Amino acid sequence: MNETIGSHISMEYNRPIKIVDDIYWVGYHEKEDQISCNPYLIVDQDEAILIDGGSRPDFSTVMRKILQVGIVPKSITHLIYHHYDPDLCGSLPNLEDMIDNPLLKVISKRENNGFIRHYGCRSVLQCIDQMDRKLTLKSGRTLRFIPIPYAHSAGSFMTLDEKTGILFSSDLFGSTTYQAEWTLFLDIKRACHACLQPLPVGRTEQEILIRHTCPLCGIRKFQRQVMPSNAALRLALQITRANNPVMIAPQHGSVLCGKEEMDQVIQALDSMEDVGIDGILGEMKRAGSAFPVG
Ligand SMILES: [Fe+2]
Ligand SMILES: [Fe+2]
Repeated sequence: MNETIGSHISMEYNRPIKIVDDIYWVGYHEKEDQISCNPYLIVDQDEAILIDGGSRPDFSTVMRKILQVGIVPKSITHLIYHHYDPDLCGSLPNLEDMIDNPLLKVISKRENNGFIRHYGCRSVLQCIDQMDRKLTLKSGRTLRFIPIPYAHSAGSFMTLDEKTGILFSSDLFGSTTYQAEWTLFLDIKRACHACLQPLPVGRTEQEILIRHTCPLCGIRKFQRQVMPSNAALRLALQITRANNPVMIAPQHGSVLCGKEEMDQVIQALDSMEDVGIDGILGEMKRAGSAFPVG
């Protein structure tokens, strides 16, 4: 891992964690949870931006961490929601109450906004397509919005912070990594590389255990379940590559740091043939069934 990233702060997951410069993880992690969520806070001079703010049950934890960062809630000027799922947007009305800023803007994409309205959003709801797909902060810092259609919602997009090169990827690169093994920064062990190959016949208990806790397997499993098809995932990966991020910060799972690790994960996902509906159709074909099996 890059020495400057997260190295000078202890990994106390009950506190906000600075992932780089002025960007904080204000997420939530419990060992019993199936899926943890990663909201992120960008603090830029006297402005703050909250990305994928989190679910209703996680609200008090996220808010406590925002306060622990040391900002006043009113300084949050924008809430960015990369799609409209409840694990991102559920706490929207609670956040609006706490932030209490009449100038607060909620940013998403047209395809999402009709759904986001149903959380009871009272703020101005903006569409990235009407903002030249970028937000320029008072300091001049630019957040660029990058659509990844159907990965996994029609209006899904990512946010690239041009100052740091961090790509906030929402569900893309998310993971169901075995929670007891979770770390905020992805740790691909040497053993994980074997997991990219099909399990050999006569597999050992040890191999099965490694797969259960392997971060690459967790990322693949999550993408298989959440993304609609091979094509949607591959297009999103192609778009990710073209934007050359320095770090990838997904809404679930772990932050990907370093080119080698990002390349390994992208490669692992790019080779998948059983994503979403393609996986279901493959199973039906193998079973000779006209309807979903299993
Ligand atoms: Fe989602
Ligand atoms: Fe999600």
